[in-house]
Amino acid sequence: MRLESKIKRPELEEEGNKKISFAEIHMPVLMRLREKYLKEKPLDGIIISAALHVTKETAVLIKTLSLWGAKVFLAPSNPLSTQDDVAASLASLENITVEAWRGMSKEEYFMAIKDAARQEPNVVIDDGADLHVTIHEEFKEIGRKVYGGNEETTTGVVRLKALERNDKLLYPVIAVNNALTKFLFDNRYGTGQSSIDGILRATNILIAGKRAVVAGYGWVGRGIAMRLKGLGARVIVTEVDPIRALEAVMDGFEVMTMDEASKIGDIFITATGDIDVIVERHMLNMKDGAILANAGHFNVEVNVEDLERISDSRENVRENTVKYVLRNGKRIFLIGEGRLVNLVAAEGHPSEVMDMSFANQALSVLYLVNNGGKLDKRVYDVPTEQDQLIARLKLETMGIRIDELSEKQRKYLESYK
Ligand code: ADE
Repeated sequence: MRLESKIKRPELEEEGNKKISFAEIHMPVLMRLREKYLKEKPLDGIIISAALHVTKETAVLIKTLSLWGAKVFLAPSNPLSTQDDVAASLASLENITVEAWRGMSKEEYFMAIKDAARQEPNVVIDDGADLHVTIHEEFKEIGRKVYGGNEETTTGVVRLKALERNDKLLYPVIAVNNALTKFLFDNRYGTGQSSIDGILRATNILIAGKRAVVAGYGWVGRGIAMRLKGLGARVIVTEVDPIRALEAVMDGFEVMTMDEASKIGDIFITATGDIDVIVERHMLNMKDGAILANAGHFNVEVNVEDLERISDSRENVRENTVKYVLRNGKRIFLIGEGRLVNLVAAEGHPSEVMDMSFANQALSVLYLVNNGGKLDKRVYDVPTEQDQLIARLKLETMGIRIDELSEKQRKYLESYK
């Protein structure tokens, strides 16, 4: 079932075109791959449904897939992350359908996800697994015919592994998130920079001297903590995993429970992937003026219902910033409704890191199509050669050369003697 694009601001097409051209210049690995397969058209006749944040970087990926011959349907990955100018630009192109706009309701968001499923795709690309899970729950017949899928983010991989454990996976999935050239760079440096960018655009506060509390010391938490430290914050980390907590201590951060941290923090950023990281009792502890933001995929880490319940009033004070006045008189500022702060209040990760993430997406699509029918219904890691190739290409495009092992060195490493 082919659908017309549904977007909100078609008049922004030209602005979108300019943004995408800018991203193309900063995504040289993906652009080299685009060029490499342009003539061959390896995705001729392939239908792809994708649920991704509609950004200029996503546009470079979607255009690449369509130039390789695919018909692509693009749904959003979050109701608030779509850049309407980018959506307008993509919707003007042949073989690309977009159903996304910034500020969709929950119903509109899931309608777009279901429309993506209804395309009867050969390949499914997702960020967070709402599309994969919707296909598995509501479109099983369509799911059984899918060659395979890709998953962009940690939260989505966690959900797909749960489907796999329950023997419910309908098609093979490549955990693009787990590529080294993805999570070491995108999750760490991408989120590290763009989350702070979101907080600054929303508040313009000074980071230096603030007590910043980072919940979760996975790759995202590490990146955020590292960059906050660089800006002069006094960084506190909260964790549940003893090894990660120990790493945070030895990386030079203060580690304590959220109950303790909630009394002294000025800024709180959640990056755990779990629910209820900041709840009523923490909010009641907080200092007047505390700022809350979330960098995890879903808006479940800061319990916004708790915040609403213990507040007397709520007021939009700046774009993407809401002031809550609690019953105890203290003011708490929530950024971007507790959704992904980097995509709601800023523009997401910079093009340079998405270059590697989306080169992994593009090559994983080719891998799925080339291996159609041969893979088990499992969650796969990306092939090691793909990771190596992307790292090599990235270095090359940065003009950086590295040493090579001599034959003697290689033999030495291979010998048990
Ligand atoms: N996730 C985080 N940053 C992103 C970006 N710039 N584009 C698409 N998905 C993203």
